[in-house]
Amino acid sequence: MNPVPSNSTNAPLLENQQITRRISCLIQWKHLIKPCLILIAILVFSAPVAYSLSELIMVARHKSETVSNLIKIFIPSSKKLSTTTKTNSPPKHLIQESHQTISPPAAFCGKRIVGYFAEFENAGLSRKQLHMLTHIIYLFARPTNGVITLDGEQTRRKFEEMKSKAREASSTLKVMISVGGHDYYKEYSRLVSNETSRNVFVKSIVSFFKKNDIDGIEIFWTRPKYEDIKSYSSFIQELRSAFTELQKRWNRKNEYIISLIVPKEKHWSFDLKDFSKFVDFFNIYSTQFREKQVGPDSPLYGGEGRNIDETMKYYICKTGQPSKFNIMVSFHGTFWEGAELPLRDYSDDIWKEKNVARGPFAVRWRHLRQRNWNLTDIKFHNLTKTSYIWIPGPPTWFLTLEDEKSLREKNRYVADHNIGGITMWTIDQDDDDHTLLKVVSSAELCTGDEKNTIKYTCE
Ligand SMILES: *[C@@H]1O[C@H](CO)[C@@H](O)[C@H](O)[C@H]1NC(C)=O
Ligand SMILES: *[C@@H]1O[C@H](CO)[C@@H](O)[C@H](O)[C@H]1NC(C)=O
Ligand SMILES: *[C@@H]1O[C@H](CO)[C@@H](O)[C@H](O)[C@H]1NC(C)=O
Repeated sequence: MNPVPSNSTNAPLLENQQITRRISCLIQWKHLIKPCLILIAILVFSAPVAYSLSELIMVARHKSETVSNLIKIFIPSSKKLSTTTKTNSPPKHLIQESHQTISPPAAFCGKRIVGYFAEFENAGLSRKQLHMLTHIIYLFARPTNGVITLDGEQTRRKFEEMKSKAREASSTLKVMISVGGHDYYKEYSRLVSNETSRNVFVKSIVSFFKKNDIDGIEIFWTRPKYEDIKSYSSFIQELRSAFTELQKRWNRKNEYIISLIVPKEKHWSFDLKDFSKFVDFFNIYSTQFREKQVGPDSPLYGGEGRNIDETMKYYICKTGQPSKFNIMVSFHGTFWEGAELPLRDYSDDIWKEKNVARGPFAVRWRHLRQRNWNLTDIKFHNLTKTSYIWIPGPPTWFLTLEDEKSLREKNRYVADHNIGGITMWTIDQDDDDHTLLKVVSSAELCTGDEKNTIKYTCE
């Protein structure tokens, strides 16, 4: 799996050398302690001023253009903050909520920055991360035999931890559970197949919500078949009714949230218009466009129509509701050993047959360096707007990944096309500085367009 195995023992040594160099610098600077203290004092006293200034600059930069814009966006947002503090029904977690909630800029116009947090990852969760999100979704609860379960002690504990941290960090952050997984399509098919089984499942969801006091559910059913769609739609409708009832019973101001995973294949007979009456948003599974070939994982363009642009255009034109869609971005890269370079500068032909190549393998963004991927080798492919590393070898290595640059392109795409938001798979695969999350969270999605203005030319 190591692209440059000979480096593997060097990497930690290099880090240590840097640290010792820094320490010896500190010792030499001993004579300067007094001036330093004075400098620190000045810094400390000017901090509040600098803070206010930086806040102002951030707001001004974010709202850029005109002052009128600034005011227009600012007033509703402060109103929104005060109402939402009142709303959330079961009030116990709001008691310590005296500080003002910070949210990503997209929240100002009701757009979404959604982070998956996964049972299968090991990283912790910080307040800082939570403040960069509008929704956090836990992967996964399982729908086994019609009963929602958190499988095992660790999964349960991690979910509880996420929930309490999220409640503590913000009163506006939505906490959701994703039910299902890539392997649960057959189970789902059975679960929704008749009224009796749907009833059992809906009851189980409701009792899960009563017990856990969360804001929403994602139905993670990646491949419903044509013959499932009708009963799937009935299920969502019945779930919505059950949620509405629960909301009334609990005197909860905000509706419960329902989101669905939707595959990227656009020739798919899923009439989302039917669903959208009952669903708050759709997470388009906009990665892994070609699992069996070597090439970019989530191209915005190119690939003879198999790309994010075509997928989003298809769904948005069909439903007329861009605000209900999120694109998904991945915080792990995908790589192959021994493949040909798939990308050409100006060609639409962006995938290569796998032939003798080994892979695909996954590597988390947080592990790239320790797996000997050199981030300075990352190149950008202009046609697909994706980032990649190509090592000519032998053996050759091809890695496709999201980095700051490709994510900024996707942010811009989502803003330009008035799409409802971005979902990250998963925030715990990011590095400890939250490099990727910061880019996505800072997306300037509030462009002033009406909620459902369509930015595509639909046939
Ligand atoms: C409903 O579906 C469940 C699960 O597939 C099955 O066990 C049950 O027999 C079905 N009931 C009816 C009345 O068809
Ligand atoms: C990464 O690549 C750059 C230039 O290609 C090189 O200067 C640097 O030493 C490399 N870093 C590591 C850790 O191999
Ligand atoms: C990149 O592609 C855009 C069109 O998508 C084009 O306008 C631009 O000139 C290209 N840049 C380079 C460096 O090829």
